[in-house]
Amino acid sequence: MSFRIQPAAPARLNRCQLFGPGSNTKLPPKMASSAADVINLDLEDSVSPDDKAQARKNVIEAIGDIDWGNKTLSVRINGLDTPYWYRDVVDILEQAGDRLDMIMIPKVGCAADIYAVDALVTAVERAKGRSKPISLEVIIESAAGIAHVEEIAAASPRLQAMSLGAADFAASMGMQTTGIGGTQEDYYMLHQGQKFWSDPWHWAQTAIVAACRTHGLLPVDGPFGDFSDDDGFRAQALRSATLGMVGKWAIHPKQIALANEVFTPPDSKVAEAREILAAMEEATRTGAGATVYKGRLVDIASIKQAEVIVKQSEMIAAG
Ligand code: COA
Ligand code: MG
Repeated sequence: MSFRIQPAAPARLNRCQLFGPGSNTKLPPKMASSAADVINLDLEDSVSPDDKAQARKNVIEAIGDIDWGNKTLSVRINGLDTPYWYRDVVDILEQAGDRLDMIMIPKVGCAADIYAVDALVTAVERAKGRSKPISLEVIIESAAGIAHVEEIAAASPRLQAMSLGAADFAASMGMQTTGIGGTQEDYYMLHQGQKFWSDPWHWAQTAIVAACRTHGLLPVDGPFGDFSDDDGFRAQALRSATLGMVGKWAIHPKQIALANEVFTPPDSKVAEAREILAAMEEATRTGAGATVYKGRLVDIASIKQAEVIVKQSEMIAAG
């Protein structure tokens, strides 16, 4: 066990991140009244090159004009491989109000990408006297991003969250799929003539969760493209939640309730976690480090596992 204590992730809800293209001015009011915890106004890949400048203006207006309630409000800027990103940062931070919470950097490949954005953000904040420091979140969606995931997670104290972007990730890795997340028909094991499907996103997800938990960030599962497939979304989200991710993107309003449902621990799980804590409290009182709960071993590690669920439910209850 390292003597270094694992840092806590930011204590805010991130069950669903709802995206909408900055070029579509109809969406922000609908996004604001949705049940998503985080809103991402997009300047990147849902906006065509000809619309980039107008999208920036729309987003600046939407940040100021709309009542975003207690949602976390984020803008996804363009990648550092484009000519757009510096203008995104400068215009947004010079012209948008203090309501903005975060900037999302897509396609990060190394810690220096974060350093570059951090340096620019810091300069604009100082020049404009912005009182609220902007946080950063990143998308891991390339071979370089996953290869350098740990140094990226450690890159800046502004960093709060990290998402897996399945589509760009698949393209960068040369994966043979055009699907955005979910089951891949050709990724199966054969046993006695029967196919058993496996999860090609699993290792990238666990690498992201480990990097995030090491450095106190929120690990988030990115988009699920087929918004007609509720069961597929739910299956993907349940796997992510089981692995330690705290939420998932929605690219259509249909997906918001699904994400909220999966990333809100059910009452039965919370009740069980509380019972385990009570059983361990009783055990500790009698000087035991382990006891039996419903026929199975619980010990001091079980306290930490149960606390994950109880703390999550308390944060949700506090809203
Ligand atoms: N946020 C809030 N509301 C949304 C929405 C979103 N992202 N996407 C659609 N809606 C609204 C529509 O405006 C429509 O509202 P109405 O009933 O008041 O008319 C309703 O939800 C149903 O929309 P629907 O007709 O099914 O979809 P669409 O054809 O209008 O839009 C998409 C489909 C995929 C183009 C749209 O959902 C979208 O732009 N998603 C986000 C894409 C994105 O940001 N990608 C980047 C991250 S990967
Ligand atoms: Mg992408």
